[in-house]
Amino acid sequence: MCGIMGVVGADDAVRVLVDGLQHLSYRGYDAAGVAVMAGRDGQRRIEIRKTAGTLDKLKSLLSGQPVNGRIGIGHTRWATHGAPTDCNAHPHTDKSGKLAVVHNGIIENERVLRQKLAAEGFEFRSQTDTEVVAHLVSKYLGETCDLHCALRKTLDVISGAYALVVMYIDEPDRIYAARKDSPLVIGLGQGAGYVASDIPALLPHTREMLLLEDGDVARVTGDEVIVWDRNDNITVRQSKTIMWDQEAADKGEHTTFMDKEMDEQADAAARLLAAPLMRHEAPSRVVFVGCGSAYHASMVGRELLGRLAGIPSDVMIASEMRYEPELSLEGTLCLAVSQSGETADTLAALRQAKRRGASAAAIVNAQDSSIAREAEAVQWMHAGPEIAVATTKGYTTQLLALLRLSLEWGRANGRLSASDAREWEGELGKLPELMRGALADRERAERFATAHIAPRLVFFIGRGLDYATALEGALKFKEISYLNAEAYAAGELKHGPIALIESDALVVAVCTQSRLTAKTVSNIREVKARGARVLALCRESDEAGLRAEADEVWTLPDAPDEVMPLLAILPLQRLAYETAILRGCSVDKPRNLAKSVTVE
Ligand code: M6R
Repeated sequence: MCGIMGVVGADDAVRVLVDGLQHLSYRGYDAAGVAVMAGRDGQRRIEIRKTAGTLDKLKSLLSGQPVNGRIGIGHTRWATHGAPTDCNAHPHTDKSGKLAVVHNGIIENERVLRQKLAAEGFEFRSQTDTEVVAHLVSKYLGETCDLHCALRKTLDVISGAYALVVMYIDEPDRIYAARKDSPLVIGLGQGAGYVASDIPALLPHTREMLLLEDGDVARVTGDEVIVWDRNDNITVRQSKTIMWDQEAADKGEHTTFMDKEMDEQADAAARLLAAPLMRHEAPSRVVFVGCGSAYHASMVGRELLGRLAGIPSDVMIASEMRYEPELSLEGTLCLAVSQSGETADTLAALRQAKRRGASAAAIVNAQDSSIAREAEAVQWMHAGPEIAVATTKGYTTQLLALLRLSLEWGRANGRLSASDAREWEGELGKLPELMRGALADRERAERFATAHIAPRLVFFIGRGLDYATALEGALKFKEISYLNAEAYAAGELKHGPIALIESDALVVAVCTQSRLTAKTVSNIREVKARGARVLALCRESDEAGLRAEADEVWTLPDAPDEVMPLLAILPLQRLAYETAILRGCSVDKPRNLAKSVTVE
Protein backbone atom coordinates (compact mmCIF):
# COMPACT_ATOMS: atom_id res chain seq x y z
CA MET A 1 0.00 0.00 0.00
CA CYS A 2 1.80 3.15 -1.23
CA GLY A 3 5.53 2.98 -1.82
CA ILE A 4 8.26 5.49 -0.99
CA MET A 5 11.71 5.78 -2.51
CA GLY A 6 14.24 8.54 -1.96
CA VAL A 7 17.87 9.00 -2.94
CA VAL A 8 20.71 11.44 -2.29
CA GLY A 9 23.90 11.27 -4.32
CA ALA A 10 22.87 9.11 -7.28
CA ASP A 11 24.30 9.67 -10.77
CA ASP A 12 20.80 9.41 -12.14
CA ALA A 13 18.21 9.95 -9.42
CA VAL A 14 15.23 9.35 -11.73
CA ARG A 15 16.45 5.90 -12.71
CA VAL A 16 17.03 4.95 -9.05
CA LEU A 17 13.62 6.26 -8.02
CA VAL A 18 11.62 4.59 -10.78
CA ASP A 19 13.50 1.33 -10.33
CA GLY A 20 12.89 1.43 -6.57
CA LEU A 21 9.20 2.15 -7.08
CA GLN A 22 9.03 -0.79 -9.46
CA HIS A 23 10.29 -3.05 -6.69
CA LEU A 24 7.56 -1.70 -4.42
CA SER A 25 4.77 -1.93 -6.97
CA TYR A 26 3.65 -5.29 -5.57
CA ARG A 27 2.18 -3.37 -2.65
CA GLY A 28 -0.58 -2.05 -4.92
CA TYR A 29 -0.91 1.53 -6.24
CA ASP A 30 -2.96 3.68 -8.59
CA ALA A 31 -0.71 6.69 -9.26
CA ALA A 32 3.03 7.38 -9.29
CA GLY A 33 5.39 10.32 -9.27
CA VAL A 34 8.87 11.66 -8.65
CA ALA A 35 10.40 14.96 -7.56
CA VAL A 36 13.99 15.72 -8.50
CA MET A 37 16.31 18.53 -7.42
CA ALA A 38 17.40 19.97 -10.77
CA GLY A 39 19.74 22.82 -11.79
CA ARG A 40 22.47 24.40 -9.67
CA ASP A 41 23.01 27.26 -7.31
CA GLY A 42 20.76 30.19 -8.24
CA GLN A 43 18.98 28.06 -10.85
CA ARG A 44 18.06 25.25 -8.49
CA ARG A 45 14.46 24.00 -8.71
CA ILE A 46 12.32 21.01 -7.88
CA GLU A 47 10.95 19.26 -10.97
CA ILE A 48 7.90 17.07 -10.49
CA ARG A 49 6.57 14.40 -12.84
CA LYS A 50 3.50 12.54 -11.67
CA THR A 51 0.53 10.76 -13.11
CA ALA A 52 -2.46 8.63 -12.28
CA GLY A 53 -2.02 5.02 -13.41
CA THR A 54 0.98 2.81 -13.75
CA LEU A 55 4.71 3.25 -13.51
CA ASP A 56 4.83 2.69 -17.28
CA LYS A 57 2.77 5.86 -17.65
CA LEU A 58 5.22 7.68 -15.42
CA LYS A 59 8.13 6.36 -17.49
CA SER A 60 6.62 7.61 -20.72
CA LEU A 61 5.92 10.98 -19.09
CA LEU A 62 9.57 11.09 -18.07
CA SER A 63 10.81 10.17 -21.51
CA GLY A 64 8.72 13.00 -23.02
CA GLN A 65 9.80 15.47 -20.31
CA PRO A 66 13.15 14.21 -19.02
CA VAL A 67 14.66 15.55 -15.84
CA ASN A 68 18.13 15.07 -14.36
CA GLY A 69 19.46 15.35 -10.87
CA ARG A 70 21.26 13.54 -8.06
CA ILE A 71 18.63 13.93 -5.35
CA GLY A 72 15.00 12.98 -5.48
CA ILE A 73 11.96 11.38 -3.89
CA GLY A 74 9.35 9.13 -5.47
CA HIS A 75 6.03 7.57 -4.58
CA THR A 76 3.42 5.07 -5.66
CA ARG A 77 0.03 6.11 -4.27
CA TRP A 78 -2.90 3.95 -3.19
CA ALA A 79 -5.77 6.42 -2.96
CA THR A 80 -7.18 7.21 0.48
CA HIS A 81 -8.00 10.94 0.35
CA GLY A 82 -9.30 11.81 -3.11
CA ALA A 83 -9.51 9.85 -6.35
CA PRO A 84 -6.47 8.46 -8.17
CA THR A 85 -5.83 11.53 -10.35
CA ASP A 86 -2.68 13.23 -11.63
CA CYS A 87 -3.24 16.05 -9.17
CA ASN A 88 -3.64 13.80 -6.13
CA ALA A 89 -0.53 11.78 -7.03
CA HIS A 90 2.54 12.47 -4.88
CA PRO A 91 4.93 14.27 -4.51
CA HIS A 92 3.11 17.35 -3.22
CA THR A 93 4.67 20.78 -2.93
CA ASP A 94 4.08 23.97 -1.01
CA LYS A 95 3.01 27.13 -2.84
CA SER A 96 6.57 28.25 -3.54
CA GLY A 97 7.45 24.89 -5.07
CA LYS A 98 10.62 24.94 -2.94
CA LEU A 99 9.80 21.79 -1.02
CA ALA A 100 8.30 18.44 -1.96
CA VAL A 101 6.79 15.73 0.22
CA VAL A 102 5.82 12.08 -0.20
CA HIS A 103 3.78 10.28 2.41
CA ASN A 104 2.43 6.84 3.30
CA GLY A 105 -0.32 6.48 5.89
CA ILE A 106 -3.20 8.69 6.93
CA ILE A 107 -3.12 12.08 8.67
CA GLU A 108 -6.19 11.73 10.85
CA ASN A 109 -6.65 15.39 11.75
CA GLU A 110 -6.26 16.43 8.11
CA ARG A 111 -9.70 18.09 7.91
CA VAL A 112 -9.13 20.40 10.87
CA LEU A 113 -5.62 21.28 9.73
CA ARG A 114 -6.78 21.92 6.18
CA GLN A 115 -9.46 24.34 7.40
CA LYS A 116 -7.00 26.16 9.62
CA LEU A 117 -4.40 26.45 6.88
CA ALA A 118 -7.01 27.58 4.35
CA ALA A 119 -8.13 30.28 6.79
CA GLU A 120 -4.49 31.40 7.00
CA GLY A 121 -4.37 31.77 3.22
CA PHE A 122 -2.79 28.47 2.13
CA GLU A 123 -4.28 27.28 -1.15
CA PHE A 124 -4.91 23.59 -1.68
CA ARG A 125 -4.62 22.01 -5.10
CA SER A 126 -5.28 18.38 -4.20
CA GLN A 127 -7.67 16.49 -1.95
CA THR A 128 -4.87 14.64 -0.20
CA ASP A 129 -3.91 14.70 3.45
CA THR A 130 -0.29 14.89 2.28
CA GLU A 131 -0.69 18.41 0.93
CA VAL A 132 -1.48 19.50 4.49
CA VAL A 133 1.99 18.32 5.47
CA ALA A 134 3.61 20.26 2.61
CA HIS A 135 1.87 23.49 3.69
CA LEU A 136 2.62 22.93 7.37
CA VAL A 137 6.33 22.41 6.74
CA SER A 138 6.32 25.48 4.54
CA LYS A 139 4.54 27.52 7.20
CA TYR A 140 7.03 26.50 9.90
CA LEU A 141 9.95 27.09 7.54
CA GLY A 142 8.71 30.67 7.40
CA GLU A 143 8.89 30.84 11.20
CA THR A 144 12.01 28.82 11.97
CA CYS A 145 15.44 28.38 10.66
CA ASP A 146 15.70 25.00 9.02
CA LEU A 147 13.89 22.01 7.63
CA HIS A 148 14.66 19.91 10.68
CA CYS A 149 12.83 22.33 13.01
CA ALA A 150 9.97 22.84 10.57
CA LEU A 151 9.47 19.11 10.18
CA ARG A 152 9.52 18.56 13.94
CA LYS A 153 6.92 21.25 14.47
CA THR A 154 4.79 19.63 11.76
CA LEU A 155 5.04 16.23 13.42
CA ASP A 156 3.91 17.82 16.67
CA VAL A 157 0.61 18.91 15.14
CA ILE A 158 -0.29 16.01 12.87
CA SER A 159 -1.83 12.83 14.23
CA GLY A 160 -2.29 9.45 12.59
CA ALA A 161 0.14 7.16 10.83
CA TYR A 162 2.88 8.29 8.52
CA ALA A 163 6.11 7.66 6.75
CA LEU A 164 7.24 10.98 5.30
CA VAL A 165 10.13 12.03 3.11
CA VAL A 166 10.78 15.70 2.41
CA MET A 167 13.25 17.60 0.23
CA TYR A 168 13.86 21.34 0.20
CA ILE A 169 15.69 23.57 -2.24
CA ASP A 170 17.59 25.55 0.39
CA GLU A 171 19.07 22.34 1.86
CA PRO A 172 20.00 20.73 -1.42
CA ASP A 173 22.35 18.00 -0.23
CA ARG A 174 19.88 16.06 1.94
CA ILE A 175 16.45 14.61 2.39
CA TYR A 176 14.55 14.18 5.65
CA ALA A 177 12.56 11.14 6.65
CA ALA A 178 10.15 10.63 9.54
CA ARG A 179 7.97 7.73 10.63
CA LYS A 180 5.15 6.77 12.95
CA ASP A 181 3.25 3.49 12.54
CA SER A 182 4.34 3.15 8.91
CA PRO A 183 7.64 1.51 7.98
CA LEU A 184 10.67 3.35 6.61
CA VAL A 185 14.11 1.92 5.91
CA ILE A 186 17.33 3.81 5.22
CA GLY A 187 19.95 2.35 2.91
CA LEU A 188 23.62 3.16 3.42
CA GLY A 189 25.40 3.19 0.04
CA GLN A 190 28.83 4.26 -1.22
CA GLY A 191 28.54 8.02 -1.49
CA ALA A 192 24.77 7.71 -1.67
CA GLY A 193 21.95 7.49 0.86
CA TYR A 194 18.55 5.96 0.25
CA VAL A 195 15.14 5.85 1.92
CA ALA A 196 12.37 3.40 1.10
CA SER A 197 9.22 1.99 2.57
CA ASP A 198 10.43 -1.57 2.12
CA ILE A 199 13.71 -3.44 1.81
CA PRO A 200 13.38 -4.85 -1.77
CA ALA A 201 13.59 -1.32 -3.22
CA LEU A 202 17.04 -0.86 -1.70
CA LEU A 203 18.61 -4.24 -2.38
CA PRO A 204 19.98 -3.32 -5.84
CA HIS A 205 22.01 -0.56 -4.15
CA THR A 206 23.02 -1.78 -0.72
CA ARG A 207 22.57 -4.47 1.91
CA GLU A 208 23.42 -2.14 4.79
CA MET A 209 20.19 -0.82 6.19
CA LEU A 210 18.94 1.03 9.17
CA LEU A 211 15.34 0.71 10.34
CA LEU A 212 13.72 3.81 11.73
CA GLU A 213 11.60 3.52 14.85
CA ASP A 214 8.36 5.28 15.68
CA GLY A 215 8.91 8.96 16.30
CA ASP A 216 12.31 9.03 14.56
CA VAL A 217 13.40 11.79 12.21
CA ALA A 218 16.42 11.13 9.98
CA ARG A 219 18.58 13.38 7.88
CA VAL A 220 20.08 11.50 4.96
CA THR A 221 22.98 12.81 2.87
CA GLY A 222 25.33 10.97 0.53
CA ASP A 223 27.84 10.38 3.34
CA GLU A 224 25.94 10.14 6.60
CA VAL A 225 22.65 9.56 8.31
CA ILE A 226 21.70 11.33 11.53
CA VAL A 227 18.69 10.07 13.48
CA TRP A 228 16.75 11.92 16.19
CA ASP A 229 14.38 9.99 18.43
CA ARG A 230 10.84 11.04 19.38
CA ASN A 231 12.25 13.46 21.98
CA ASP A 232 14.47 15.04 19.36
CA ASN A 233 17.66 13.64 20.87
CA ILE A 234 20.29 12.38 18.47
CA THR A 235 20.26 8.61 18.70
CA VAL A 236 22.02 5.60 17.21
CA ARG A 237 20.02 3.09 15.23
CA GLN A 238 22.14 0.03 14.61
CA SER A 239 22.48 -0.82 10.93
CA LYS A 240 21.80 -4.36 9.73
CA THR A 241 23.13 -6.37 6.84
CA ILE A 242 20.25 -7.84 4.89
CA MET A 243 21.10 -11.39 3.93
CA TRP A 244 18.30 -12.40 1.58
CA ASP A 245 18.66 -12.14 -2.18
CA GLN A 246 16.83 -10.02 -4.67
CA GLU A 247 16.20 -13.18 -6.74
CA ALA A 248 13.98 -14.46 -3.95
CA ALA A 249 11.78 -11.47 -4.70
CA ASP A 250 11.88 -11.97 -8.51
CA LYS A 251 9.54 -14.05 -10.65
CA GLY A 252 12.18 -16.35 -12.13
CA GLU A 253 10.68 -18.42 -14.93
CA HIS A 254 7.11 -17.95 -13.70
CA THR A 255 4.75 -15.59 -15.45
CA THR A 256 3.35 -14.22 -12.20
CA PHE A 257 4.48 -13.99 -8.59
CA MET A 258 1.38 -15.80 -7.45
CA ASP A 259 2.17 -18.78 -9.68
CA LYS A 260 5.70 -18.88 -8.28
CA GLU A 261 4.56 -18.52 -4.70
CA MET A 262 1.97 -21.27 -4.98
CA ASP A 263 4.66 -23.59 -6.31
CA GLU A 264 7.01 -22.68 -3.48
CA GLN A 265 4.65 -23.85 -0.75
CA ALA A 266 6.06 -27.33 -0.22
CA ASP A 267 9.60 -25.95 0.03
CA ALA A 268 8.47 -23.21 2.40
CA ALA A 269 6.83 -25.85 4.59
CA ALA A 270 10.04 -27.90 4.62
CA ARG A 271 12.01 -24.79 5.58
CA LEU A 272 9.65 -24.00 8.44
CA LEU A 273 9.75 -27.60 9.66
CA ALA A 274 13.53 -27.42 9.86
CA ALA A 275 13.53 -24.07 11.68
CA PRO A 276 13.45 -23.58 15.44
CA LEU A 277 10.16 -22.83 17.19
CA MET A 278 9.78 -19.61 19.12
CA ARG A 279 10.56 -19.99 22.76
CA HIS A 280 7.44 -19.44 24.77
CA GLU A 281 5.96 -21.52 27.55
CA ALA A 282 2.54 -23.05 26.93
CA PRO A 283 0.00 -20.28 27.60
CA SER A 284 -3.16 -20.89 29.59
CA ARG A 285 -5.30 -18.83 27.24
CA VAL A 286 -4.76 -17.26 23.81
CA VAL A 287 -6.42 -14.54 21.77
CA PHE A 288 -5.54 -14.55 18.07
CA VAL A 289 -5.67 -11.33 16.08
CA GLY A 290 -5.32 -11.05 12.32
CA CYS A 291 -6.98 -9.79 9.14
CA GLY A 292 -8.10 -11.49 5.93
CA SER A 293 -6.25 -14.74 5.37
CA ALA A 294 -4.38 -14.36 8.65
CA TYR A 295 -7.77 -14.32 10.36
CA HIS A 296 -8.71 -17.54 8.58
CA ALA A 297 -5.41 -19.11 9.63
CA SER A 298 -6.18 -18.01 13.19
CA MET A 299 -9.54 -19.79 13.03
CA VAL A 300 -7.65 -22.98 12.25
CA GLY A 301 -5.20 -22.11 15.03
CA ARG A 302 -7.99 -21.87 17.59
CA GLU A 303 -9.20 -25.36 16.72
CA LEU A 304 -5.69 -26.87 16.72
CA LEU A 305 -4.76 -25.28 20.01
CA GLY A 306 -7.89 -26.70 21.64
CA ARG A 307 -7.53 -30.19 20.19
CA LEU A 308 -3.79 -30.70 20.52
CA ALA A 309 -2.90 -28.65 23.56
CA GLY A 310 -6.22 -28.21 25.38
CA ILE A 311 -5.64 -24.45 25.40
CA PRO A 312 -8.79 -22.33 25.10
CA SER A 313 -8.59 -19.43 22.69
CA ASP A 314 -10.57 -16.72 20.90
CA VAL A 315 -10.06 -15.31 17.45
CA MET A 316 -10.68 -11.66 16.75
CA ILE A 317 -10.66 -9.71 13.53
CA ALA A 318 -7.95 -7.17 14.32
CA SER A 319 -9.92 -4.15 13.10
CA GLU A 320 -12.76 -5.10 15.46
CA MET A 321 -10.61 -5.97 18.43
CA ARG A 322 -8.75 -2.65 18.40
CA TYR A 323 -11.93 -0.83 19.45
CA GLU A 324 -13.29 -3.44 21.86
CA PRO A 325 -13.86 -1.44 25.05
CA GLU A 326 -14.70 -4.19 27.55
CA LEU A 327 -11.72 -6.41 27.00
CA SER A 328 -9.69 -7.76 29.87
CA LEU A 329 -6.76 -9.91 28.79
CA GLU A 330 -4.84 -10.46 32.02
CA GLY A 331 -3.05 -13.79 31.85
CA THR A 332 -3.76 -14.17 28.11
CA LEU A 333 -1.25 -14.49 25.30
CA CYS A 334 -2.17 -12.30 22.32
CA LEU A 335 -0.91 -14.04 19.18
CA ALA A 336 -0.85 -11.66 16.22
CA VAL A 337 -0.75 -13.42 12.86
CA SER A 338 0.60 -11.38 9.94
CA GLN A 339 2.61 -12.19 6.84
CA SER A 340 3.79 -8.63 6.28
CA GLY A 341 4.11 -7.73 9.94
CA GLU A 342 2.93 -4.26 8.96
CA THR A 343 -0.86 -4.56 8.84
CA ALA A 344 -2.03 -1.45 10.68
CA ASP A 345 -5.10 -3.07 12.25
CA THR A 346 -3.16 -6.08 13.52
CA LEU A 347 -0.43 -3.89 14.96
CA ALA A 348 -3.01 -1.71 16.71
CA ALA A 349 -4.83 -4.80 18.06
CA LEU A 350 -1.57 -6.19 19.44
CA ARG A 351 -0.88 -2.88 21.18
CA GLN A 352 -4.42 -2.79 22.51
CA ALA A 353 -4.02 -6.34 23.87
CA LYS A 354 -0.82 -5.32 25.66
CA ARG A 355 -2.61 -2.36 27.23
CA ARG A 356 -5.32 -4.77 28.41
CA GLY A 357 -2.79 -6.91 30.23
CA ALA A 358 -1.94 -9.58 27.62
CA SER A 359 1.54 -10.74 26.81
CA ALA A 360 2.35 -10.44 23.10
CA ALA A 361 3.68 -12.92 20.55
CA ALA A 362 3.45 -12.98 16.77
CA ILE A 363 3.58 -15.28 13.78
CA VAL A 364 5.25 -13.16 11.12
CA ASN A 365 7.06 -13.58 7.81
CA ALA A 366 8.76 -10.22 7.22
CA GLN A 367 11.87 -9.78 9.31
CA ASP A 368 12.25 -6.47 11.13
CA SER A 369 8.62 -5.62 10.58
CA SER A 370 6.73 -3.51 13.11
CA ILE A 371 4.67 -6.36 14.54
CA ALA A 372 7.75 -8.55 14.93
CA ARG A 373 9.48 -5.75 16.78
CA GLU A 374 6.57 -5.14 19.14
CA ALA A 375 6.04 -8.79 20.06
CA GLU A 376 7.89 -10.33 22.97
CA ALA A 377 8.32 -13.59 21.04
CA VAL A 378 8.15 -14.23 17.31
CA GLN A 379 7.51 -17.40 15.36
CA TRP A 380 8.97 -16.78 11.90
CA MET A 381 7.05 -18.25 8.98
CA HIS A 382 10.14 -18.77 6.76
CA ALA A 383 8.01 -18.34 3.63
CA GLY A 384 10.55 -16.07 1.86
CA PRO A 385 9.37 -12.82 0.25
CA GLU A 386 5.71 -12.92 -0.76
CA ILE A 387 4.96 -10.39 -3.47
CA ALA A 388 1.56 -11.32 -4.97
CA VAL A 389 -1.25 -9.52 -3.18
CA ALA A 390 -3.18 -12.77 -2.72
CA THR A 391 -1.35 -14.70 -0.06
CA THR A 392 -0.60 -18.38 -0.73
CA LYS A 393 2.64 -19.54 0.87
CA GLY A 394 2.03 -16.94 3.57
CA TYR A 395 -1.23 -18.65 4.49
CA THR A 396 0.09 -22.20 4.46
CA THR A 397 3.15 -21.32 6.51
CA GLN A 398 0.88 -19.58 9.03
CA LEU A 399 -1.15 -22.79 9.28
CA LEU A 400 1.97 -24.88 9.71
CA ALA A 401 3.43 -22.55 12.34
CA LEU A 402 0.16 -22.81 14.26
CA LEU A 403 0.16 -26.59 14.00
CA ARG A 404 3.73 -26.83 15.24
CA LEU A 405 3.11 -24.44 18.14
CA SER A 406 -0.04 -26.35 19.16
CA LEU A 407 1.92 -29.61 19.17
CA GLU A 408 4.80 -28.10 21.08
CA TRP A 409 2.55 -26.55 23.72
CA GLY A 410 0.51 -29.78 23.93
CA ARG A 411 3.73 -31.69 24.57
CA ALA A 412 4.88 -29.11 27.12
CA ASN A 413 1.65 -29.06 29.13
CA GLY A 414 1.25 -32.83 29.05
CA ARG A 415 -1.82 -32.94 26.82
CA LEU A 416 0.16 -34.90 24.22
CA SER A 417 1.95 -38.04 25.32
CA ALA A 418 5.53 -38.68 24.22
CA SER A 419 4.37 -41.35 21.79
CA ASP A 420 1.68 -39.04 20.30
CA ALA A 421 4.33 -36.38 19.89
CA ARG A 422 6.62 -38.85 18.06
CA GLU A 423 3.77 -39.92 15.81
CA TRP A 424 3.08 -36.29 14.96
CA GLU A 425 6.72 -35.74 14.09
CA GLY A 426 6.37 -38.53 11.54
CA GLU A 427 3.21 -36.96 10.11
CA LEU A 428 4.82 -33.55 9.78
CA GLY A 429 7.85 -35.08 8.09
CA LYS A 430 5.56 -36.31 5.29
CA LEU A 431 3.90 -32.94 4.80
CA PRO A 432 6.11 -31.33 2.09
CA GLU A 433 5.69 -34.42 -0.12
CA LEU A 434 1.93 -34.48 0.45
CA MET A 435 1.78 -30.79 -0.46
CA ARG A 436 3.72 -31.43 -3.65
CA GLY A 437 1.13 -34.07 -4.56
CA ALA A 438 -1.78 -31.73 -3.86
CA LEU A 439 -0.12 -28.92 -5.86
CA ALA A 440 0.46 -30.93 -9.00
CA ASP A 441 -2.80 -30.87 -10.96
CA ARG A 442 -2.68 -27.56 -12.84
CA GLU A 443 -4.32 -28.88 -16.00
CA ARG A 444 -7.33 -30.06 -14.10
CA ALA A 445 -7.76 -26.62 -12.50
CA GLU A 446 -7.42 -25.03 -15.95
CA ARG A 447 -10.06 -27.34 -17.43
CA PHE A 448 -12.45 -26.73 -14.57
CA ALA A 449 -11.93 -22.97 -14.73
CA THR A 450 -12.60 -23.02 -18.49
CA ALA A 451 -15.86 -24.88 -17.92
CA HIS A 452 -16.94 -22.49 -15.12
CA ILE A 453 -15.60 -19.20 -16.28
CA ALA A 454 -18.46 -16.99 -15.08
CA PRO A 455 -20.92 -18.59 -12.69
CA ARG A 456 -23.46 -16.15 -11.26
CA LEU A 457 -22.28 -17.05 -7.81
CA VAL A 458 -19.86 -19.46 -6.20
CA PHE A 459 -20.51 -20.84 -2.73
CA PHE A 460 -17.77 -22.45 -0.70
CA ILE A 461 -19.07 -24.66 2.07
CA GLY A 462 -17.48 -26.73 4.80
CA ARG A 463 -17.71 -27.62 8.47
CA GLY A 464 -15.18 -27.31 11.27
CA LEU A 465 -11.68 -26.81 9.87
CA ASP A 466 -13.20 -27.09 6.38
CA TYR A 467 -15.17 -23.93 7.06
CA ALA A 468 -11.92 -21.97 7.50
CA THR A 469 -10.71 -23.48 4.20
CA ALA A 470 -13.99 -22.47 2.55
CA LEU A 471 -13.54 -18.89 3.79
CA GLU A 472 -9.99 -18.74 2.50
CA GLY A 473 -10.98 -20.33 -0.84
CA ALA A 474 -13.77 -17.79 -1.32
CA LEU A 475 -11.43 -14.91 -0.44
CA LYS A 476 -8.93 -16.09 -3.06
CA PHE A 477 -11.69 -16.21 -5.68
CA LYS A 478 -13.07 -12.81 -4.78
CA GLU A 479 -9.81 -10.95 -4.66
CA ILE A 480 -8.19 -12.18 -7.86
CA SER A 481 -11.02 -13.32 -10.17
CA TYR A 482 -13.62 -10.76 -8.97
CA LEU A 483 -16.27 -13.48 -8.89
CA ASN A 484 -19.16 -13.31 -6.49
CA ALA A 485 -17.81 -15.96 -4.12
CA GLU A 486 -19.10 -16.48 -0.60
CA ALA A 487 -18.28 -19.01 2.09
CA TYR A 488 -20.73 -20.57 4.52
CA ALA A 489 -20.53 -23.04 7.32
CA ALA A 490 -22.34 -25.82 5.45
CA GLY A 491 -25.04 -26.19 8.11
CA GLU A 492 -25.91 -22.50 7.76
CA LEU A 493 -27.10 -22.78 4.16
CA LYS A 494 -30.62 -23.70 5.17
CA HIS A 495 -30.87 -20.60 7.37
CA GLY A 496 -30.91 -18.23 4.42
CA PRO A 497 -28.22 -18.48 1.74
CA ILE A 498 -29.78 -21.52 0.05
CA ALA A 499 -32.43 -19.12 -1.31
CA LEU A 500 -29.77 -18.02 -3.81
CA ILE A 501 -29.15 -21.49 -5.20
CA GLU A 502 -30.36 -22.08 -8.76
CA SER A 503 -28.98 -24.03 -11.68
CA ASP A 504 -26.36 -21.36 -12.47
CA ALA A 505 -24.70 -21.60 -9.05
CA LEU A 506 -21.43 -23.39 -8.44
CA VAL A 507 -20.85 -24.92 -5.02
CA VAL A 508 -17.40 -25.96 -3.87
CA ALA A 509 -17.84 -28.37 -0.97
CA VAL A 510 -14.79 -28.94 1.23
CA CYS A 511 -15.17 -32.38 2.84
CA THR A 512 -11.87 -33.29 4.45
CA GLN A 513 -12.82 -33.63 8.12
CA SER A 514 -13.47 -37.28 8.89
CA ARG A 515 -16.20 -36.84 11.45
CA LEU A 516 -18.02 -34.14 9.47
CA THR A 517 -17.94 -35.41 5.89
CA ALA A 518 -21.28 -37.22 6.15
CA LYS A 519 -22.89 -34.02 7.41
CA THR A 520 -21.52 -31.95 4.54
CA VAL A 521 -22.73 -34.61 2.11
CA SER A 522 -26.29 -33.88 3.29
CA ASN A 523 -25.72 -30.23 2.40
CA ILE A 524 -24.39 -31.24 -1.01
CA ARG A 525 -27.66 -33.07 -1.59
CA GLU A 526 -29.64 -29.99 -0.63
CA VAL A 527 -27.89 -27.74 -3.15
CA LYS A 528 -27.89 -30.44 -5.86
CA ALA A 529 -31.65 -30.76 -5.39
CA ARG A 530 -31.92 -27.08 -6.27
CA GLY A 531 -29.86 -27.37 -9.42
CA ALA A 532 -26.37 -26.25 -8.34
CA ARG A 533 -23.28 -27.87 -9.82
CA VAL A 534 -21.03 -29.23 -7.09
CA LEU A 535 -17.28 -29.68 -6.95
CA ALA A 536 -16.31 -31.73 -3.89
CA LEU A 537 -12.85 -31.73 -2.36
CA CYS A 538 -12.17 -34.80 -0.24
CA ARG A 539 -9.53 -37.30 0.87
CA GLU A 540 -8.67 -40.20 -1.41
CA SER A 541 -10.32 -42.60 1.01
CA ASP A 542 -13.69 -40.80 0.68
CA GLU A 543 -13.59 -40.54 -3.11
CA ALA A 544 -16.03 -43.32 -3.92
CA GLY A 545 -18.70 -41.97 -1.56
CA LEU A 546 -18.40 -38.43 -2.88
CA ARG A 547 -18.45 -39.52 -6.54
CA ALA A 548 -22.04 -40.60 -6.03
CA GLU A 549 -22.98 -37.12 -4.77
CA ALA A 550 -21.02 -34.38 -6.54
CA ASP A 551 -20.63 -33.50 -10.22
CA GLU A 552 -16.86 -33.47 -9.88
CA VAL A 553 -14.58 -34.77 -7.17
CA TRP A 554 -11.00 -33.68 -6.49
CA THR A 555 -9.07 -35.85 -4.10
CA LEU A 556 -6.37 -34.96 -1.64
CA PRO A 557 -3.87 -37.30 -0.02
CA ASP A 558 -5.07 -38.86 3.24
CA ALA A 559 -3.62 -37.16 6.31
CA PRO A 560 -4.78 -36.39 9.86
CA ASP A 561 -7.73 -33.98 10.04
CA GLU A 562 -5.51 -31.28 11.54
CA VAL A 563 -3.21 -31.38 8.49
CA MET A 564 -5.99 -31.26 5.89
CA PRO A 565 -6.37 -27.42 5.86
CA LEU A 566 -2.78 -27.27 4.60
CA LEU A 567 -3.63 -29.55 1.69
CA ALA A 568 -7.20 -28.53 0.90
CA ILE A 569 -6.39 -24.88 0.25
CA LEU A 570 -3.83 -25.75 -2.46
CA PRO A 571 -6.26 -26.74 -5.25
CA LEU A 572 -8.55 -23.85 -4.30
CA GLN A 573 -5.71 -21.36 -4.72
CA ARG A 574 -4.90 -22.89 -8.10
CA LEU A 575 -8.54 -22.83 -9.17
CA ALA A 576 -8.90 -19.16 -8.23
CA TYR A 577 -5.68 -18.44 -10.10
CA GLU A 578 -6.64 -20.22 -13.34
CA THR A 579 -10.08 -18.61 -13.25
CA ALA A 580 -8.52 -15.17 -12.81
CA ILE A 581 -6.07 -15.75 -15.67
CA LEU A 582 -8.87 -16.88 -17.99
CA ARG A 583 -10.94 -13.85 -17.03
CA GLY A 584 -7.98 -11.61 -17.86
CA CYS A 585 -7.58 -10.28 -14.31
CA SER A 586 -4.38 -8.85 -12.95
CA VAL A 587 -3.57 -11.69 -10.54
CA ASP A 588 -0.54 -10.24 -8.81
CA LYS A 589 -2.04 -6.81 -8.29
CA PRO A 590 -5.82 -7.09 -8.11
CA ARG A 591 -7.81 -3.90 -8.38
CA ASN A 592 -8.31 -1.85 -5.19
CA LEU A 593 -6.08 -4.12 -3.10
CA ALA A 594 -2.66 -3.68 -1.58
CA LYS A 595 -0.15 -6.19 -0.31
CA SER A 596 0.55 -4.63 2.96
CA VAL A 597 -2.36 -2.71 4.41
CA THR A 598 -0.68 0.00 6.42
CA VAL A 599 -3.74 2.22 6.81
CA GLU A 600 -6.72 1.65 9.04
O1 M6R B 1 0.26 -9.18 6.00
P1 M6R B 1 -0.93 -9.73 6.73
O2 M6R B 1 -0.89 -11.23 6.88
O3 M6R B 1 -1.18 -9.05 8.04
O4 M6R B 1 -2.18 -9.39 5.78
C1 M6R B 1 -3.48 -9.61 6.20
C2 M6R B 1 -4.44 -9.48 5.06
O5 M6R B 1 -4.41 -8.19 4.53
C3 M6R B 1 -4.12 -10.48 3.93
O6 M6R B 1 -4.10 -11.80 4.39
C4 M6R B 1 -5.16 -10.35 2.80
O7 M6R B 1 -6.40 -10.79 3.23
C5 M6R B 1 -4.67 -11.12 1.57
N1 M6R B 1 -4.72 -10.28 0.42
C6 M6R B 1 -5.45 -12.33 1.26
O8 M6R B 1 -4.95 -12.99 0.15
